Amino acid sequence: MEYSIKTGDPAKLNTACLVVGIFSKRQLSPLAQQLDKSSKGALQRILKRGDMNGESGQQLLLYDLPGIQAERILLIGLGKQRDFGRKQYAKCVNSAVKSLNQKHAIEAIWGLSELVNEDFSLTQAVRETVISAGAGLYQFNETKSEVKKNQRPLKRLALFLHDRRHLKAAQKALYQAVAIADGMELTKDLANLPGNICTPGYLADQARKLGRNDSRLKVRILDEKQMAKLGMGALLSVSRGSRQPAKLIIMEYSGGKPAAKPVVLVGKGLTFDAGGISLKPSAAMDEMKYDMCGGATVIGVVKAAIAMELPINLIGVVPASENLPDGDANKPGDIVTSMSGQTIEILNTDAEGRLILCDALTYCERFNPAAVIDIATLTGACIVALGNQASGLMSNNESLANELLSAGNDTGDRAWQLPLWDDYQEQLDSNFADMANIGGKGAGTITAACFLSRYTKKFKWAHLDIAGTAWRSGANKGATGRPVGLLTQFLIKRCGL
Ligand code: BES
Ligand code: MN
Ligand code: ZN
Repeated sequence: MEYSIKTGDPAKLNTACLVVGIFSKRQLSPLAQQLDKSSKGALQRILKRGDMNGESGQQLLLYDLPGIQAERILLIGLGKQRDFGRKQYAKCVNSAVKSLNQKHAIEAIWGLSELVNEDFSLTQAVRETVISAGAGLYQFNETKSEVKKNQRPLKRLALFLHDRRHLKAAQKALYQAVAIADGMELTKDLANLPGNICTPGYLADQARKLGRNDSRLKVRILDEKQMAKLGMGALLSVSRGSRQPAKLIIMEYSGGKPAAKPVVLVGKGLTFDAGGISLKPSAAMDEMKYDMCGGATVIGVVKAAIAMELPINLIGVVPASENLPDGDANKPGDIVTSMSGQTIEILNTDAEGRLILCDALTYCERFNPAAVIDIATLTGACIVALGNQASGLMSNNESLANELLSAGNDTGDRAWQLPLWDDYQEQLDSNFADMANIGGKGAGTITAACFLSRYTKKFKWAHLDIAGTAWRSGANKGATGRPVGLLTQFLIKRCGL
């Protein structure tokens, strides 16, 4: 879809459809008031007939309003003005673009961007519009043999702006929003692909493809032989049980000064997690194709950062592997040596994410990073703790944690911090190795992070557990594109933009 910003007299806007908001109890939004005036009260008269009172979810399509140039007006119910915030805004964008796409117009003007309040700025509204519109229109059709073609899909959306003084800010926000939405779409596409297509090799090819399109992105892929040379015994122990060779994907974007320390993002790229010998139960096991969502997030964020031309040095690292049972697979009780030299007793082969991540994190030391953030669908326990609403955040550095928390709050792609106190570390004690790969019954999300913390002592580090946020289950099963929103905002702020 193409986006633009439009200003001018709302009554004179030349468009197939102008989208306008109405609050509960037929309260007109400022733009609706203007249109009502230009149409000599026609809008109010229609509303008084009772077809719509402005409740959330309502829509009403009007044709040929007197004194109004737009061919159609699509009224969107916004609910109570008092309660109108980001969530309600996202919901109405989502449903409006769906109906524009289904029946009305190839092109439309969006008249709701200025419905902002104290904690929801114009910049955020512009971004939310593009991202929610992208989410509303997103379809994953790559693996269907026949797709019903929409003859008149929505192709262009112009965001209407009353105040020309905000034009520049809105344009900047729009340019960033489109980049973020595109990155998110790539993340979702990669995540939604099945495990037999999206293998470690496939992920590596997608990263290479990104690199070919931009000279500032350097992509390197390490194969198993090279990883063995580096001593990545933990990572390689996971891929032993798989016929698909593991890959370590390294994407280096140099947008900042040559001497500036890079931000490094490390994403778990487990393209299918059957649990290994500690086999998972079969119910919903298909969803373990999403165990590479951390990796897909990193690839999507790198794509967005390039598109925004962020003045930052950013490195994406994706350890990619499958976790399957096999005659040669890891067994409970096996002891492996990680790249750091620390030994690990594998008490549960299903706690594989930390095994591939620990070696990838040790590898990051060479970059002399400003900060390392890993993103992983790491523990089912995180869904128990935080549900699908928030990603789990743990960090060895409070100011880094706070940056990520506020990026989450800014974007609605929120995270919630869990403690990483030393008190939890003893749960990883092993009789036979430096540590076990599981921490027993309680605090599964925290003990997983404790495990990773033993490989991140040399830099500022944060861990995002996205087990609950990266995809939706059930009838609407599909990747969400989270936490691309949070991370891109974090990077934008780091750049002082
Ligand atoms: N990929 C899973 C975590 C997961 C499970 C994410 C379900 C989303 C939904 C991870 O590899 C895993 O299996 N973790 C185990 C750890 C346990 C064995 C300590 C888990 O959470 O059960
Ligand atoms: Mn697992
Ligand atoms: Zn896993």
